[in-house]
Amino acid sequence: MASVYNWQLGRGMSYPHQEAHSQLQFAFVFNINRCIACQTCTMACKSTWTFAKGQEYMWWNNVESKPYGGYPHNWDVKLLAMLEAENPDGQVWRTKRKTPESPYGEFKGKTIFEAASNHRSEGGSMRALGYVPPDEEWRSPNIHEETAAGKIREKDQWGDSVELPEHRVWFFYLQRLCNHCTYPACLAACPRNAIYKRPEDGIVLIDQERCRGYRKCVEACPYKKPMYNSTTRISEKCIACYPRIEGKDGVLSPDSAPLETRCMAACVGKIRLQGLVKKTADGKWAKDPDNPINFLVRERNVALPLYPQFGTEPNGYYIPPRWVPRSYLVQMFGPGVGDALDQYCCPDRELLSVLQLFRTTQQIIFKFRIEKGRKVAEVESTLPSGKSAVQEIFNDTVIGYNKSGREVTRITVEEPTFERSKNHVNSI
Ligand code: SF4
Ligand code: SF4
Ligand code: SF4
Ligand code: F3S
Repeated sequence: MASVYNWQLGRGMSYPHQEAHSQLQFAFVFNINRCIACQTCTMACKSTWTFAKGQEYMWWNNVESKPYGGYPHNWDVKLLAMLEAENPDGQVWRTKRKTPESPYGEFKGKTIFEAASNHRSEGGSMRALGYVPPDEEWRSPNIHEETAAGKIREKDQWGDSVELPEHRVWFFYLQRLCNHCTYPACLAACPRNAIYKRPEDGIVLIDQERCRGYRKCVEACPYKKPMYNSTTRISEKCIACYPRIEGKDGVLSPDSAPLETRCMAACVGKIRLQGLVKKTADGKWAKDPDNPINFLVRERNVALPLYPQFGTEPNGYYIPPRWVPRSYLVQMFGPGVGDALDQYCCPDRELLSVLQLFRTTQQIIFKFRIEKGRKVAEVESTLPSGKSAVQEIFNDTVIGYNKSGREVTRITVEEPTFERSKNHVNSI
């Protein structure tokens, strides 16, 4: 095994391949607080890519209800239990020392790569700790939708159970697709070298000519995002809608600039923002604070990776749901949860502006700029951590630019309103 640096863990880790990095990296931020579980994203992907024979149970994008839902069933509970058995001292983070290269502190446990050496699977040793879900676990992709956890205390009314900072009866929606990981477990596990990560944008693809259906990728991916097609007998996965990323849609992308993917562009709840972030030759995220994804993930740490302890350095990031018990969120998104929620619940001027950019254009925004506006409100609030804060709200304008530097979106913090003239008061 080679040694590679995983900034989400704040340390080097073992990985079956030598360190090598793409120039840009496909990445996305999902604001869980806004999702309405309409599944428009899910259907946008299905109707574009997975409507053929053999793909009936294939949902490259899915939205599941947590804590009980999962596609395949219980995928994360199973993985966490396997990892827990390999980490008898717990999946522990040391958070005292944080640096720009280890923003969440340091993970002290074993990742799926480091824990694999004690395990064998059919045909040889494992390269990443995992399992192949049986067929029945791929059925019912939206099982346990909106089933809540928790209970109300004696003498409480139902309304008392939904007081912030944490609801006592709770669930939330988790939106999922392949994370186009920096250190993909699927790629590490394939004995045919049929999986590759594109050097130009970090998108992870299965070469359909090379794949022989060994399903080691299905076993190794901790997020369970490669899927076996029993008709073609090879595996498939999210392709990050790469023709759109390459700007090949001449109608929507007149200057051939990259477009957001289908599942991102279709999002009704405006929870999704997707981008391409710059990497340095040694795999770090380049300093690029005017890129909105870079701003939310690296400048502010307000969007966090899903199960960073798995060790694949996933490139999907989530603004955690503000009403959910913190211990659950820390297990899922790591120790940055408290800081992320404090910022999200009382965003400063710049963060509030960037949050307006979600779903205002299908073009990928490479850079934003803020034009300052007048102050419109001042709000006193108590942060989730219990600290007091005063939020000043300004009606700033945020402008987004695509890869060519062309302005593609412009939006103010206050929503514009229009009054109909008296002549047309009852018309639309
Ligand atoms: Fe591979 Fe899974 Fe990571 Fe996607 S999420 S790149 S399938 S390891
Ligand atoms: Fe499907 Fe494209 Fe979304 Fe991947 S990025 S889940 S291929 S719509
Ligand atoms: Fe959630 Fe958006 Fe998907 Fe609807 S389209 S389920 S709001 S992520
Ligand atoms: Fe390799 Fe997965 Fe195909 S392990 S051979 S890409 S099914």
